Amino acid sequence: MKFFIDSANLNEIREAASLGILDGVTTNPSLIAKESNVNFKEHILKICEILNWEGASVSAEVVATDYEGMLREGRDLAKIHPNVYVKLPMTKAGLQGTHTLSKEGIRINQTLIFNATQALMSAKAGSTFVSPFIGRLDDIGHEGMGLVGEIREIFDNYGFNTQILAASIRHPLHVIESARLGADIATMPFKVIEQLLKHPLTDIGLANFLKDWEKVKQ
Ligand code: G3P
Repeated sequence: MKFFIDSANLNEIREAASLGILDGVTTNPSLIAKESNVNFKEHILKICEILNWEGASVSAEVVATDYEGMLREGRDLAKIHPNVYVKLPMTKAGLQGTHTLSKEGIRINQTLIFNATQALMSAKAGSTFVSPFIGRLDDIGHEGMGLVGEIREIFDNYGFNTQILAASIRHPLHVIESARLGADIATMPFKVIEQLLKHPLTDIGLANFLKDWEKVKQ
């Protein structure tokens, strides 16, 4: 299972990369807007320079909502670095954009997926990743995780190569359930990455070891 960080903050991305668990980064316009005074394309390049190994993935999202605009922005973003994946929203124009850009060899992360038909349409059009938004479904009283299972079943039924990128992850249980249900990737905020490696018994155990060690006269 691949782990992505859902952040545009360079310090968080560097720290997550230092843990040796990071396979990619997802950004979106809201995450970019949180970083003050950044030039979008230069910022994406800086992220790519942190994740500069072959096979790493950095998702950068278009803001155009029309087909031609999405093509223009998508081609432009894909030129920034070989590790850039272009994020297109799951709209009619976004689906047309996926169809056209994927045929040009540009890898598409189809974002804002909220049901299985959207995921199926996106995979048929040629996306590399589909991003179901788990937390935002939970927010409105739908079980987001159920969607990951549905998409997994459908993709397996027909042998689609499109990868399931569980997004809008809010806590460690979302990561565990995504892994159990066979999501290929989970993208999560830095806070969740930190939560994944912690356990109170680890901290208590370490504190006790160090306390006992003080008794050892060396
Ligand atoms: O990157 C898209 C997605 O992960 C957003 O998450 O927490 O804003 O719903 P959230």
